[in-house]
Amino acid sequence: MASTGLRSISLFSGGGGLDIGFERAGYDHVASYEILEDAAATLVKARPDWQVYGGQDGDVRTVNWKQWRGKVDVLHGGPPCQPFSHAGRQRGALDPRDMWPEFVRATLEIMPSAFVGENVSALADSKFADYVETNILAPLRDKYTVMPVTVLHAADFGVPQVRRRVFFVGFKSKAAARGYRAPSPTHARPGTNAEGLHQGLGVRAALGLPDIGFDDLSPTIRSTLNGPRNTTSILNSVSAKKKFEMLQIWPNGVAPTRESAHRFVAQNGHFRLSVPDVALIQGFPDDWPFVGATYMMLGQIGNAVPPPLGYRVAQAVAAALARSK
Ligand SMILES: C[S@@+](CC[C@H](N)C(=O)[O-])C[C@H]1O[C@@H](n2cnc3c(N)ncnc32)[C@H](O)[C@@H]1O
Repeated sequence: MASTGLRSISLFSGGGGLDIGFERAGYDHVASYEILEDAAATLVKARPDWQVYGGQDGDVRTVNWKQWRGKVDVLHGGPPCQPFSHAGRQRGALDPRDMWPEFVRATLEIMPSAFVGENVSALADSKFADYVETNILAPLRDKYTVMPVTVLHAADFGVPQVRRRVFFVGFKSKAAARGYRAPSPTHARPGTNAEGLHQGLGVRAALGLPDIGFDDLSPTIRSTLNGPRNTTSILNSVSAKKKFEMLQIWPNGVAPTRESAHRFVAQNGHFRLSVPDVALIQGFPDDWPFVGATYMMLGQIGNAVPPPLGYRVAQAVAAALARSK
């Protein structure tokens, strides 16, 4: 991808889902901040030339962001979703893991041309409308034109998974805001065929598994870093369990490699997933070198914005900034 000449900084970078999207869209990487040592190590291993602040150095709560003022065009990040996720207690601002105030502080200290914040789609539920208005939109609206909050579905961008994410996008320049168009679908979901769109694959086809007369999107992959520690199950719900059974895919005891997955066949004979398979279902490049124990690699994958979705958002922001020049 040709360089856009735009510089991007990433907060809460995790294993790099959104970072990959911005890189593919032609942004120059300025820095990533991530508190988890293993996730930061993934970024360093994947991109040795990137400036990655990890562990204590990556803790966004302690950073003076003014050092980046004038050096960044777009700030992006996905603060932890546990305070808002349906899978948690949904305590919002009362949850000490709520880091949206830090996202807002970083944006107002750096004052990039645009920001992109993302989270689980539950944050777009009416339950959190007051939270979003008070803690995210109102403080940013002083300096930015904030776009209508948008929920995007990863399957509309070719990812073989049910995965919705909410995006908050804002621009410093009114002209750029006027030129912004939220990404529209590039892919038809399996079983549908909309004219002009690429045909999206079901998860069995995406994994290259034999035809069993049934295929569909994978259920949402759960992050193994939320909930029970050290689990290697990506199961999110009872309905996900049923769907995986229909797909004849075994979502528990995910193996670190494809070789070990093949060696330990699931008791019911269904296809045992491995870390590279789960990465593929999340839209990561095949060679993305996740670091850490199996649950830790799966956590980085399950926390991520699928890169193809991040790419489209990054592209849409770049297009708006280019139009405003
Ligand atoms: C939802 S994940 C972000 C995933 C990432 N956007 C991606 O696409 O791969 C949130 C991340 O925030 C990190 N995090 C939590 N508290 C943090 C803090 N105080 N400073 C920096 N990172 C933090 C978590 O470790 C986690 O990796």
